[in-house]
Formats: sequence, structure tokens, C-alpha cells
Amino acid sequence: MFTSVLIILCGVFGVETDVMKKVFVTEGDDVTLHTGVSIMKDDVQILWMFGRKNPDTLIAEIYKLKIYIFDGHVSVMKGKLQMDSQTGSLIIRNISSVHSGLYKAQIINTTTKYRRFNFTVYAPVSLPVIASSSVVSVCQTSDCQKYPASCIDPDESFSCEVCAVMCSADNGADVSLSWFKNNERLNQTSSPDRNISLSLSLEIQERNNNTYYCVAANPVNNLTTQLNFQEHCPQHTS
Ligand SMILES: *[C@@H]1O[C@H](CO)[C@@H](O)[C@H](O)[C@H]1NC(C)=O
Ligand SMILES: *[C@@H]1O[C@H](CO)[C@@H](O)[C@H](O)[C@H]1NC(C)=O
Ligand SMILES: *[C@@H]1O[C@H](CO)[C@@H](O)[C@H](O)[C@H]1NC(C)=O
Ligand SMILES: *[C@@H]1O[C@H](CO)[C@@H](O)[C@H](O)[C@H]1NC(C)=O
Ligand SMILES: *[C@@H]1O[C@H](CO)[C@@H](O)[C@H](O)[C@H]1NC(C)=O
Ligand SMILES: *[C@@H]1O[C@H](CO)[C@@H](O)[C@H](O)[C@H]1NC(C)=O
Ligand SMILES: *[C@@H]1O[C@H](CO)[C@@H](O)[C@H](O)[C@H]1NC(C)=O
Repeated sequence: MFTSVLIILCGVFGVETDVMKKVFVTEGDDVTLHTGVSIMKDDVQILWMFGRKNPDTLIAEIYKLKIYIFDGHVSVMKGKLQMDSQTGSLIIRNISSVHSGLYKAQIINTTTKYRRFNFTVYAPVSLPVIASSSVVSVCQTSDCQKYPASCIDPDESFSCEVCAVMCSADNGADVSLSWFKNNERLNQTSSPDRNISLSLSLEIQERNNNTYYCVAANPVNNLTTQLNFQEHCPQHTS
């Protein structure tokens, strides 16, 4: 009698649901989803479920220390899954965007716990490319305004041509493209249209010692290309 009351109480109060954990990963990575269990015991059972919108399909299980992989239940999981026999954590090899979705571990012991993951897989960003623009305009600095006709000072120690460059990178999910001057972001662009590449222009009025760089970034990685004055602003390196 006492035992059955205890079981009922556990059934009611023993369910722990954690907050859904957001996981951002890069395509091609091997990813481990942790159960939080430090060492599996004989009488602990763990069920791993997956679904794009709802984690309702069983993909792996560990019970009495035996591992069962049901990667046939979801075709995109075929050959991708492993389980850590010590912790019951799920390992997904060489992940790609088809593995985005919701994952749930049901950890059944004297009580039942859940671990839930919302998983978004991003492609690596492309390296930004900087190109000199053919558009030539004249800068507005005080030095240049002294010589409006030629826009070249008599000693030719500087040029008043604005250095105009364009940075471009492939678009993708949540990709943004930015220009930085030293650590300061000058400008940023992004577009929901994945079919066009992103581009962002920059004009530098006169030669200076700042470092300019263009960064393509998504939530999981970023790549940087630095402006090279010799190459991109020859008018500023005479
Ligand atoms: C990873 O998966 C991609 C397809 O998603 C495949 O082209 C590539 O060869 C795989 N890499 C490895 C190391 O298995
Ligand atoms: C299972 O329950 C026992 C008794 O409550 C506890 O000592 C043990 O740590 C639990 N194991 C796991 C993996 O949660
Ligand atoms: C999972 O994350 C995606 C992208 O961040 C979001 O659109 C979606 O609503 C989330 N799903 C749940 C069930 O929280
Ligand atoms: C930032 O980029 C937008 C779009 O290309 C452009 O209209 C704007 O002038 C730029 N701002 C600066 C400070 O360069
Ligand atoms: C992007 O291209 C695909 C096929 O190439 C097309 O189906 C889709 O409508 C395009 N999207 C936009 C926003 O133009
Ligand atoms: C750039 O740095 C050099 C040496 O550090 C200095 O001589 C020069 O005046 C600086 N130029 C500008 C535009 O700040
Ligand atoms: C680029 O990634 C690094 C970590 O890899 C991060 O510290 C930095 O803030 C990121 N930069 C941008 C512009 O997203």
C-alpha cells in the first residue's frame, strides 16, 4: 500500500522538464547532445526522439546498458548516429541542414527527466571579397579643398581621390556583412533573399593608419578580409 502511494507521487511530481536549449552548429561538425548523466546505471533508460517540428520519432535508446540505434526511422539520420555508453549522450556525425529540428532525451530512472534541444544547422560563411570600385569621386577634406582644380597637392604627397571599395560575400541563413574600422562597425547589411550575394560599399576619404576589414558572419562562424591599401587604394599609397 505504502509503495504504490509512493509510485503515484513520483509519477505526479517526479517529472522534470528543462528549458529548451538552443543549439547552433556548423554543417560538417560532429555534435554531441548531452544528457547530463555522469555515469549510466543498469536500471536507467534513455530514449532519444527527433522531429523537424515535434520530437516524436524514436531514433536511439539505451537500456540495461545496451545501445539501440533506430536510424532507419528517419532517413536523414541513416549512418549518422552514435551514443556514448557512459552518459547516454547522442552523437550526430557530419551534421547538415536536414538535421535541424527538435531533439528530446527522456531519462527514465526512479523519476523521469527531459532534456530538450532546438537545433539549427548553419552552412559555413563564404570569405568576403574586396574589390576596388571604378567610381572615382573627390574627397572633401580641407587639404583637398585647397587644390580643387587638380585635386592633387603640388608635392604629390597625397591624392584627393576617394578610395571606393566594395565588399561581397555569398548570402545564407542569418548571414550579415559588415565593414569595421579598427574595432568599430561602420556599416552592416543582410537580406532575406538567399539568391543574391550581399555587398556593401566603403569610401575612404584619405590615407590613414586605420585598419579596415570586412566580415561575413552568421550565428556560428565568421570570416574576415582586411583591406589592403596597396592593392585596393593605390591612389592612397603613391
Ligand atoms: C559529410 O556529409 C556531406 C553531405 O552532407 C558529404 O558530402 C561529405 O562527404 C561528408 N563528409 C564526411 C567526412 O563524411
Ligand atoms: C537514478 O536514481 C538514483 C536514485 O534516486 C540516483 O542515485 C541516480 O543518480 C539516478 N541516476 C541517474 C542517471 O539519474
Ligand atoms: C526553434 O528555433 C527556431 C529558430 O531559432 C525557431 O524558429 C523555432 O520557433 C524554435 N522552435 C521551438 C519549438 O522553440
Ligand atoms: C551603409 O550602407 C547603406 C547601404 O549600402 C548605404 O546606403 C549607407 O550610405 C551606408 N552607410 C555608411 C555610413 O557607409
Ligand atoms: C531563389 O531561387 C529559387 C530557385 O532558384 C526560386 O525558387 C526562389 O523563388 C528564389 N527566391 C527568391 C526570393 O527570389
Ligand atoms: C601613420 O603612422 C605613421 C607612423 O606611425 C605616422 O608617421 C603618420 O603620420 C601616420 N599617418 C596618419 C595619417 O595618421
Ligand atoms: C567572429 O567570431 C568570433 C569567435 O569565433 C567572435 O568572438 C567575434 O565576435 C565574431 N565577430 C563577428 C563580427 O561576428
